[in-house]
Amino acid sequence: MSVPFALKPVMVVVGTRPEIVKMAPIIRAFKKHEVPFSFVHCGQHYDYNMSQQFIEELELPAPDYGFKVKAASAGLQTARIMALMDRLLAKVVAGLVLVEGDTNTVLAAALAANRRGVAVGHVEAGLRSFDLRMPEEHNRRLTDHLSALLFAPTERAKANLERESVWGKIYVTGNTVIDAVAQHLPIAERKSKILSQIRFERFALATAHRAENVDNLAVLKNFVRAFMESPVPVVYPMHPRTRKRLRQNGLLAEVMQCGNVQVLPPLGYLDFLVLMRRCELIVTDSGGVQEEATSPLIRKPVLVIRLSTERPEAVEARFAKVVGTGKHQILTAITAALESKKQLPEKSPFGDGNASEKIVEIIKKELRRYI
Ligand code: UD1
Ligand code: UDP
Repeated sequence: MSVPFALKPVMVVVGTRPEIVKMAPIIRAFKKHEVPFSFVHCGQHYDYNMSQQFIEELELPAPDYGFKVKAASAGLQTARIMALMDRLLAKVVAGLVLVEGDTNTVLAAALAANRRGVAVGHVEAGLRSFDLRMPEEHNRRLTDHLSALLFAPTERAKANLERESVWGKIYVTGNTVIDAVAQHLPIAERKSKILSQIRFERFALATAHRAENVDNLAVLKNFVRAFMESPVPVVYPMHPRTRKRLRQNGLLAEVMQCGNVQVLPPLGYLDFLVLMRRCELIVTDSGGVQEEATSPLIRKPVLVIRLSTERPEAVEARFAKVVGTGKHQILTAITAALESKKQLPEKSPFGDGNASEKIVEIIKKELRRYI
C-alpha cells in the first residue's frame, strides 16, 4: 500500500556550496516544525572546503544520501546526477523534492523527480538574467516550469514567473540567504579567527567563478589585473574553478605574489561572513553574495563584475552596481565606491529573515491539502 502523500517526507536536495547555505535555514525549520525530511547531497561540489565544511559549520545533519559525480563535462555531470537521483527516487519515498537555485544539480534533481512522478518545490524561483550564455539561466527557467511549488524571493521574481505562465503555485517568501546571515553572523563574530590572517586594515573582498567570466581568458585577465591595481587592497578567496583556469593560463603565480592581493582558499561560511562585514566593499560575480550584501547585518556596496544580474532588486535598492567585466570599468567603479558617501538602505529587498519559516509553513499546508 502506498504511503499517503501527506505523510511522505520532503527530500531536500543540494549539490553545491550556495545550496547548502540557502537550504540550512529551511532544514532547521523542518526540524523545529517536525516536518519529516531526507537530506541528499549530490556531490557536484566535492572538495571538503566546498561541501562538508559547510555541513559541519552550519550544524546540519549528515546527508542521508551522498553521491560522487566527478564528470568531465557539464552535460555528463547533469546526466549523472539525474541518473543517481532517479535510482534514489526508485527506492526512497518522497512527497516533494525541494531544490534551491539554478545549478546543474537543481535541474537534474527536478527532472528526475518529474520522471518519477514526484512533485518539485523550487526555492529562489523566478530569477532571470536574460543572459542566455549562462547555464544557470537555462537551469532556473527549466526548473521553474517543472515545479509544483515556486518560492519566489520577491514580487519581481513572481512577475517573471507569471509572464512565463508557469504551471505551479507561486508564493513570495523572501530569500533564505537573509535568514542564513542572521542565523550565522553572531556565531561567526564569536568563532571566526580570519581577521588575524588578513594582511590589510582596509580591504575589498572579491570572488569570481562564473563560467562565462573565468573560462574566458580576456575576462579572467581583466579581473586579476584589476585586483592587482585596485586602489584598495583585495582579499580574494579563490573558487576552485578559477584557480584551475589561472593555473592553466600561467596567471596564478603572478596574482599569488602580488602584494596588493591576498589570495585565500575557498573559505567556510563563518569566515566569509566576517570578511563581508569588515570589508570596505565587495567585488563579485556571485549571485548569493549580491544578496548577502543587502542584509541589514552586512550592508555593503557590491560591484557586480558581470554584464547582467538576475538580482536587479539589489541594484534598485542601491546596494549593487553592474559594472561589466573590463579592467578599467572595474577600477573606475572601485574608486567611485570608495569615494561615495551614500547611505545604504537598512532593509534588504530580499526579505526580513523569515523566508524559511514561510516556506516551511507553506509546504506543511500544501502537503496537508493532498490528504
Ligand atoms: C557551480 C554552478 C554555479 C554556482 C557555483 C557555486 C552550474 C552550472 N554552476 O559552478 O551556478 O554559482 O557552482 O559555487 O551548476 N571544482 C573543484 N572542487 C569542487 C568543485 C568544483 O575542484 O569541490 C572544480 C572542478 O574543476 C570543476 C569546476 O570547479 O570542474 C567547476 O565546478 P562546477 O560544479 O561544474 O561549476 P562551478 O563553477 O562550481
Ligand atoms: N561563500 C563562502 N566562502 C567563500 C565564498 C563564498 O562561504 O569563500 C558563500 C557566500 O557567503 C554565499 C555562497 O557561498 O553564501 C555563494 O556561493 P557562490 O558565490 O559560490 O555561488 P553563487 O551564489 O554565485 O551561486
